[in-house]
Amino acid sequence: MLSVLGVISAVTWLTVLTSQAQDQPAGGAGFKPAAPREALMEWHEKAFNNARKAVSGKKAKDLAENAWLLSELANVNGFHGENDDYRNWAREVSTKAAELAAAGKEKQFDKAAEIVKGLNATCKSCHDVYKKRD
Ligand code: HEC
Repeated sequence: MLSVLGVISAVTWLTVLTSQAQDQPAGGAGFKPAAPREALMEWHEKAFNNARKAVSGKKAKDLAENAWLLSELANVNGFHGENDDYRNWAREVSTKAAELAAAGKEKQFDKAAEIVKGLNATCKSCHDVYKKRD
């Protein structure tokens, strides 16, 4: 009887642990970005420009690829800031870029152009507060 209970509780705990693990970023709770933020930002710029070009050139595959790249870069950018506003703006870029990828996949280029405008504004919101002027 005791061992049956033991097995049941072990299975329950395993289920709880694995479901929690799926909510964590890939590197787990100790995730640390590998590249410096300047490098991450150069890639934000490249991916965003490529996505914009793909919108005007109506290139669905290029748009989806670059938008997903930007979405993931922004996801990592969230780990470069400790404040809530920083993390929220990074998350916003990630979410909007994922919407951009979806619009690309569905070849909705007018919708994509609107999302690009919103993205631009989010880059700027964070830069206004956190990017040092030379
Ligand atoms: C959550 C904050 C945040 C968001 C969102 C953000 N950036 Fe940045 N970005 C920064 C910070 C901070 C810097 C200043 C560089 C540094 O100190 O690391 C920067 C610098 C840059 C630079 C200059 C890089 C250099 O060589 O110094 C570029 C280009 C750039 N960002 C592009 C973008 C683009 C494009 C987006 C939107 C798609 C974006 N960023 C969104 C925080 C952000």
